[in-house]
Amino acid sequence: MNGMDSLLKAQIEYYRARAPEYDDWFLRRGRYDRGPEANADWFAEIALVRAALDAFHPEGDILELACGTGLWTEPLLGSARTITAVDAVAEVLELNRERVHSDKVRYVQADLFAWRPDALYDTVFFGFWLSHVPPTLFEAFWGMVGSALKPGGRAFFVDSQYEPASTARDHQLGDPGAGSVVRRLNDGSEFRIVKVFYRAEDLAARLQTLGWTPGIRETPHYFIYGEGDWNTR
Ligand SMILES: C[S@@+](CC[C@H](N)C(=O)[O-])C[C@H]1O[C@@H](n2cnc3c(N)ncnc32)[C@H](O)[C@@H]1O
Repeated sequence: MNGMDSLLKAQIEYYRARAPEYDDWFLRRGRYDRGPEANADWFAEIALVRAALDAFHPEGDILELACGTGLWTEPLLGSARTITAVDAVAEVLELNRERVHSDKVRYVQADLFAWRPDALYDTVFFGFWLSHVPPTLFEAFWGMVGSALKPGGRAFFVDSQYEPASTARDHQLGDPGAGSVVRRLNDGSEFRIVKVFYRAEDLAARLQTLGWTPGIRETPHYFIYGEGDWNTR
């Protein structure tokens, strides 16, 4: 197994072990609690992204990549006809099922670096996944997203900006260009995973060269988010 394969395997192992404590990050609990002011900024910025997602109006048949515990599956459900929610980790899919409780959602357990879309979708959504795609697989990943869209279909994503207060108090973000970070769980175990930070302008320029028409924005501190149409369909 080469270095990248073992990093991607460790990434899956990390999310398997992290499943029961995953939501602490999003809800700013435990090691992710950065105090009232920073937490308030965090939740205000999540509200900005949620408002942008509402304005984007995700609808029809939605493909959610790396769906996790359902923090975004739940809000997507309101306007969806169906959701196909893909994730590599069974434990995470089970938590999603418990949170969302909907027969509109079809769950698929699959490794996204090998999986190919089995249908065409109106919307593809991925939250906090792009940063876990290694740069060498960036183009193939966006090609897969484009191949999943019906003509006129659109993609929406949200991810992390390089902001030290976004992660746990005992994590170091390291060099923004390193491409990987070490993450620790509540029991002290450590995993190295892929983490690529993008700036809106650079990401938009790269996506344009791949045939996308992107609209990408950043919140004041924590998030990068955006949408895109794929021109080549
Ligand atoms: C940062 S979490 C994002 C979860 C969710 N989208 C959210 O925003 O809360 C990354 C997710 O990717 C999943 N994952 C990791 N490696 C994967 C792979 N190779 N294929 C599919 N899913 C993977 C993990 O299980 C985890 O649920």
